[in-house]
Amino acid sequence: MCGIVGYIGKQEAYPIIIKGLQRLEYRGYDSAGVAILDGDLKMFKKKGKVSDLEASVKGLNTSGNVGIGHTRWATHGPPNDVNAHPHYSHNQRLAIIHNGIIENYSTLKSALENLGHTFISDTDTEVLVHVIEEFQKRDGLKLEEAVRKALKRVIGAYAIVVVDKEDPNKLVAARKASPLVIGLGKDEFFIASDATPIIEYTNRVIYLQDEEIAIIHHNSLEIINIENEVQDPEIHELEMKLEALEKGGYDSFMLKEIYQQPDTIADGMRGRINVEEGWIKLGGINEFQERIKKAKRLIIVACGTSWHAGLIGEYLVEDLARLPVEVEYASEFRYRNPVINEDDVVIALSQSGETADTLAALELAKDKGALIYGIVNVVGSSIARLTHAGSYIHAGPEIGVASTKAFTGQLTLLTLLAMRIAQLRDSVDKEFLGKLMKELVNIPDKIRQVLELNEKVRYIASEIQDSPNAIYLGRGYNFPVALEGALKLKEISYIHAEGYPAAEMKHGPIALIDEKMPVVVLANNTNNYDKVVSNIQEVKARKGIVIAIVNEGDTEIKKIADYTIEIPATMDELAPFLSVIPLQLLSYHIAIMRGCNVDQPRNLAKSVTVE
Ligand code: AGP
Ligand code: GLU
Repeated sequence: MCGIVGYIGKQEAYPIIIKGLQRLEYRGYDSAGVAILDGDLKMFKKKGKVSDLEASVKGLNTSGNVGIGHTRWATHGPPNDVNAHPHYSHNQRLAIIHNGIIENYSTLKSALENLGHTFISDTDTEVLVHVIEEFQKRDGLKLEEAVRKALKRVIGAYAIVVVDKEDPNKLVAARKASPLVIGLGKDEFFIASDATPIIEYTNRVIYLQDEEIAIIHHNSLEIINIENEVQDPEIHELEMKLEALEKGGYDSFMLKEIYQQPDTIADGMRGRINVEEGWIKLGGINEFQERIKKAKRLIIVACGTSWHAGLIGEYLVEDLARLPVEVEYASEFRYRNPVINEDDVVIALSQSGETADTLAALELAKDKGALIYGIVNVVGSSIARLTHAGSYIHAGPEIGVASTKAFTGQLTLLTLLAMRIAQLRDSVDKEFLGKLMKELVNIPDKIRQVLELNEKVRYIASEIQDSPNAIYLGRGYNFPVALEGALKLKEISYIHAEGYPAAEMKHGPIALIDEKMPVVVLANNTNNYDKVVSNIQEVKARKGIVIAIVNEGDTEIKKIADYTIEIPATMDELAPFLSVIPLQLLSYHIAIMRGCNVDQPRNLAKSVTVE
């Protein structure tokens, strides 16, 4: 979490840093700060959004060509002006910005206190900059050497940038387990947590690797590792377009991203499926096809919305490819001594490609000899670089904190993968597979039709916006969609919501149902239709408010539900693509009606790079 920006060159640093922080604000937004080197070290910090910082700095002298900035997602210490980054060293000579957690900060802090250091913030970060200062003072080291020595003492995750008042034409940056990208301009360099603040200045970037340290002057860049060996970095050319980072006429990124889904799904399929010729190609797995075909088991690791997509992946792969699948919360998997064999394939699902728990779970699986495969959105992200094989979902930057288009992008790739494994294992009837391929290609058009129901969804949202709770029910392929619908509502409207397999309701949650409880029921998959009708009857018998997602032309559920949203019919395997859209819109409208910030919901951050 948190966004980091650094600049060194000939331009004014402050406006570049502020703009960069605004682009990165989706990563964290509880406080922000900037430090500028201009003979002196000027520091500006403020609780709240980057705009609050800007307002508080108005009229002050921010000039200077070297600077660093940070937008925080607090881990250690509450969001306030003092805990905001950058943090000074004790002698106020150094300033640091940091993304991550210094796990051994309290041991380091005690040792420093014994040496006479005092601390003004509650953060782990401040401790790190004091450690750097101590090495610099004690051994008379250059900044980069002091940083290197200090990092050898650190346990935890970091992406940092440090400046030194006495060495003012230099930035020192380093990373371990938190991302950092360096943009190469002409006589200038940009540093950021991801490429979005950099793209308007240059498309040439270097992704700093774990335990690498970059020493940056306006006209030179040197990268060493923590053992002081000089590195030879690879320069990447970015293809991202600036427009992809703008709202494009929508009121929010979330709404834009919901509406982009027909196109992003088509982008995810492009060149990967040919219905007439009956082929599916996933370039990323080509050289591993034999290994995947012979795999004994597939394990999917992910968090949050990506985990919900993973559950649908399990249904698809088991159904079509008859290969056993386990879906694990990455955070649990890595700490519970799981059995992983060399004939397992471990798939990570991640929009950001930076989620710390998912990354660590993959590292564990790689160490145990499994083939690791990433389904990721952000090009060049840590997960994309770690895996043996991978497929990008090509959904373009997802900026709304609540994931929407990445979810359907993941479903697209998982459907293609399940079908491809089914082909390799010859586990499914060819005619059926042909039908499924054809229907998958039709999905973007069907989503366009679902999006036309926006007004109806908005009306239903207005009817239930004041409910403090909601229940989401689905069966089969729609059970994970119920979980996802509930998560979306929780995240952006702060309404407590639970997703359940429809048949589980009678084992407990039914006790919650009364005339005030909205119950969203997903009934567009036909396999369990009659059973879902019975579940709706059970809710109605207890006076719950039923909002049902049904296929066009449905008559039975329409008679008993309070509200129905009729969407085009599809095959059960693909039902989630269509049923999730009204749920995304429902949570969006409810959140807007309740005055919530849908793009930056409280307490959350887009990319969870801490454990
Ligand atoms: C989704 O709306 C969430 N904000 C969150 O659950 C997210 O899906 C999760 O943190 C995983 O992120 P990733 O896909 O980038 O790994
Ligand atoms: N651990 C640091 C803090 O609490 C950095 C958190 C972040 O990544 O924003 O300030």
